[in-house]
Amino acid sequence: MKIHAIILAAGKGTRMRSLNNEISKVGFEILGKPLINWVLDAAKSEITGRTVVIVGFGGNHAAKLVEGKAEIAWQHEQKGTGHAIMQTIPLIGKEKGQTLILSGDVPLITNRALKGMVEQHVNGNFDLTVLTAKPENTFGYGRIIRTANGEVSKIIEQKDLEGDEHLVKEVNAGMYIIDNEKLFEELHNLRPNNKQGELYLTDVIGLFKEKGYKVGAHVLENSDEMLGTNDRVQLAEAAELLKKRINRAHMINGVTIEDPNNTYIGPDVTIGPDTIISPNTVILGNTKIGVANLIGPSTYLKDMVIGDHNSIIQSHLVDSEIKDNIKVGPFARIREHALVENDSRIGNFVELKKSHFHEGVKASHLSYLGDAEIGEKTNIGAGTITANYDGVNKSKTIIGKKAFIGSNSTLVAPIVIEEGSYVAAASIVNKDVPKDTLAIARCRQENKVGYANVIREKQKKK
Ligand code: UD1
Ligand code: CA
Repeated sequence: MKIHAIILAAGKGTRMRSLNNEISKVGFEILGKPLINWVLDAAKSEITGRTVVIVGFGGNHAAKLVEGKAEIAWQHEQKGTGHAIMQTIPLIGKEKGQTLILSGDVPLITNRALKGMVEQHVNGNFDLTVLTAKPENTFGYGRIIRTANGEVSKIIEQKDLEGDEHLVKEVNAGMYIIDNEKLFEELHNLRPNNKQGELYLTDVIGLFKEKGYKVGAHVLENSDEMLGTNDRVQLAEAAELLKKRINRAHMINGVTIEDPNNTYIGPDVTIGPDTIISPNTVILGNTKIGVANLIGPSTYLKDMVIGDHNSIIQSHLVDSEIKDNIKVGPFARIREHALVENDSRIGNFVELKKSHFHEGVKASHLSYLGDAEIGEKTNIGAGTITANYDGVNKSKTIIGKKAFIGSNSTLVAPIVIEEGSYVAAASIVNKDVPKDTLAIARCRQENKVGYANVIREKQKKK
C-alpha cells in the first residue's frame, strides 16, 4: 500500500513579524535546517508514494527549500486547512493509498511518533487516524471529543468551544493519516460553519463518522513533539529542545560533549566515538567527524569531513588501528567542502574553505587556506594566506607533501609548490616552485651597522 504525504505550509507566519514578505515561515531555521525540512526528514522513511507541499505566503521560498523532494500545490488565499488540502486535488486527488498530513512548522515531531501512528492506522485498518496529545496547556488547540465508549467523534476548535468542552484535556496535534480516496470524496462536503468561516480539515472526522468509516487516534507520548513555531520565542524553545535531543544522542553514542548547553550540532552531522567537543562549538550541515578527534572550543564547522570517515565503518573491525587524532581550534573556522585527513592540526584563527589536508598537515596559527590541496605532512607557517581570488575567479593552490611554507607567506593562486620545497618566511610567491626547491620572494635585508645611533642623534635635536 502506498503512503503519500501532504505538508501544509501556506501560512503567513504573521507572528514571526518579519519585514520580508518573500520568506516563508517554514523557511526559518533551527540548527541550520529549515523547519519544513525537519518535518520532511521525520516523515521520509514512512512515505512510499508522492509528497506534496502546499505553499502560499513566501511560496517561492518554501518551494525552493523542498526542490527535488516534493511536488508543489499553491494555495493563494488562506481559507482554512480543509481548503488547503483541496489545492492538492489535481496532483493526488485520485491516488489510492493512505496520506499523511503534516504541518511544515512542527520541527519536533519524530520519526518514531509518525511511525507509531502509521502502524496503528494500517494494522487496525483505520480510514482516518489523528495524532493527539495531552499537553499541560491546551489553549489554542482543537479539542478531541470522544464518545462514551472512547471513540473519537469530532474535533472542536478553540474558538468554537462551548461549556464543558473547555475542560477536555486531549488535543489535536494537527497530524493525520487518512485513506486518500475517502479523504478527497469527503473534502467536497466541508462547509465553513464555524466562527472563522473557514473550511476545517478537522471536520472531515465528523463526515467520516457519518459514513461509518473507521476513525482512530494515536496519542503522542511526548506532547512537546507537536509544538508549533509560531513566533520567535517558540522558535527558540523548539531549538533548545532539538539541541538537547541531538546532543544527548551523540553522548549516548560515545561522543564527549563538555558543555551540552553551549554546543550546537545539526541533525545531519555524524560524529565518531571518543571525539571530544569542547564548549561554544557549532557543527552544521553534512559534516562528518571521525573517531577520537578533539574539536573546539569555539569552533565552527559546516559541510565538511574530518578524519577518514570510512575508517569509522572499519573501526568496528580494526578499532585500535584507526588514528584520526585531529585537533581543531580553538577559534578555527572550517567552511564548506573541506576534507581533513588523519593526524592533521588546525590551530587558532585558521580558516579553511574547499581545502583538502592530506594526512598530518599542520596549520597551527592565523591562516586562510582556500581552494588548496595540501600534501601529507606539509607544515603551513603562521600567517600563511592563499590569495585565491582575483576579484573574478577563484584559483587553486597545490602544495606537495612534506613542504614547508614559512610564516607570513602569501601564495598567489593558481600556483603549484611541489613536494619537499621550502618557501622562505614572508615571501609573496606567484611562480610555481619545483620539487625540493627553496623559494625566496622578498626584499633583501640590508644592515647599516651603527646607524641606530645616527637615528637617535637626529631624534634628540628635535
Ligand atoms: C490546527 C487544527 C487544530 C490543531 C492545530 C494543531 C484545523 C481547523 N485546526 O489549528 O485542531 O489543534 O492545528 O497545531 O485544522 N494552513 C494552510 N492554509 C490555510 C490554513 C492553514 O496552509 O488556509 C497551514 C498553516 O500554515 C499551518 C497549518 O496549516 O502550517 C495549521 O494551520 P493553523 O492556522 O496554524 O491551524 P490552527 O488554528 O493552529
Ligand atoms: Ca497552528
